[in-house]
Amino acid sequence: MIEPPLAVLAELTHRCPLRCPYCSNPVDLAKASEELTTGEWAAALREAGELGCLQVHLSGGEPTARRDLPEIVAAARAAGLYTNLITAGVTLDAPKLSQLIAAGLDHVQLSVQDAETEGAERIGGLRGAHARKREAARLVKQFGLPLTINAVVHRQNLHNLPALVELALAWGAARLEVAHVQYYGWALANRAALLPTRAMLDAATLVVGAARERLKGRLVIDYVVPDYHAVRPKACMGGWGRRFLAISPRGDILPCHAAESIEGMMFPNLRDTPLRDAWLDSEAFNRFRGTAWMPSPCRGCAHAERDWGGCRCQAAAMLGDPAQTDPACALSPHHGLLREAVQAAGADGFAYRG
Ligand code: SF4
Ligand code: FES
Repeated sequence: MIEPPLAVLAELTHRCPLRCPYCSNPVDLAKASEELTTGEWAAALREAGELGCLQVHLSGGEPTARRDLPEIVAAARAAGLYTNLITAGVTLDAPKLSQLIAAGLDHVQLSVQDAETEGAERIGGLRGAHARKREAARLVKQFGLPLTINAVVHRQNLHNLPALVELALAWGAARLEVAHVQYYGWALANRAALLPTRAMLDAATLVVGAARERLKGRLVIDYVVPDYHAVRPKACMGGWGRRFLAISPRGDILPCHAAESIEGMMFPNLRDTPLRDAWLDSEAFNRFRGTAWMPSPCRGCAHAERDWGGCRCQAAAMLGDPAQTDPACALSPHHGLLREAVQAAGADGFAYRG
């Protein structure tokens, strides 16, 4: 039996004022003219509620680039969804935020690129961004909304992890998500500049462990470790087509937001397929659902229903075939590719989107 999805990721736009080198959006971004309309988003969110979804993550790109964001939030609220805004914060001012709250916004997740201004703005590629993020956090707290800080960490900011924990506390967050870069979409082009060494990773893991202990009851810290130093892969998306679905700015209905980068796969589109049909019956969602599709060594492996064979996007990106075992698994015959990438890392400069 196929359970309903818990959450839908609504990627409202690919437009974004920042140019983070670890962006996992596809290389080929959707143009504003290709984006779903307000009415199409409202219908999609209604369908998500009817399907049994509990929450929507309003994301992008930068979701506040959509002038109709309050209408979209209102549609999510009317559909009975808990609404979480994932934002870079640089365009979030008091009038916008109060409109969103009046429309039913429940929670804000704010990204930071580093703990101090210079590094943060080099990584995000936008001058003045860090102070505007600080102000956005202040507004979120002033309006009484719960705040999560998202910090994507990598070779060039990991030394500031203790300061990122302090920043989350100082900015009033109740939760900090520390996520090592995942190498899909644009991020793959910057892998050599972003991949940390094993020693950097181990130091970061100690920092997170100590901070969790010290800040119990004050700050929850989620920690996503990098696949490239793993011996077992993560259960990406909680398993393909099991917990989550994503909708791209053009209306493609995806088992994961990075799946668009898998060459040769076709995904249903909201403009001609009801969300329920895509979730339950589409070839794309059923292709890697469960364990029947698995090749050796996943087939029959004791971990198969824990990690679901890892990440299809990573297998596609590294091996050119999404149906292979994720090379993050030490049992994969291709696991050595990850070690080679770690050894080759150490570049300084970033490739930014043009
Ligand atoms: Fe997971 Fe497959 Fe590795 Fe087993 S062989 S641990 S199922 S990725
Ligand atoms: Fe797409 Fe892992 S990122 S399945």
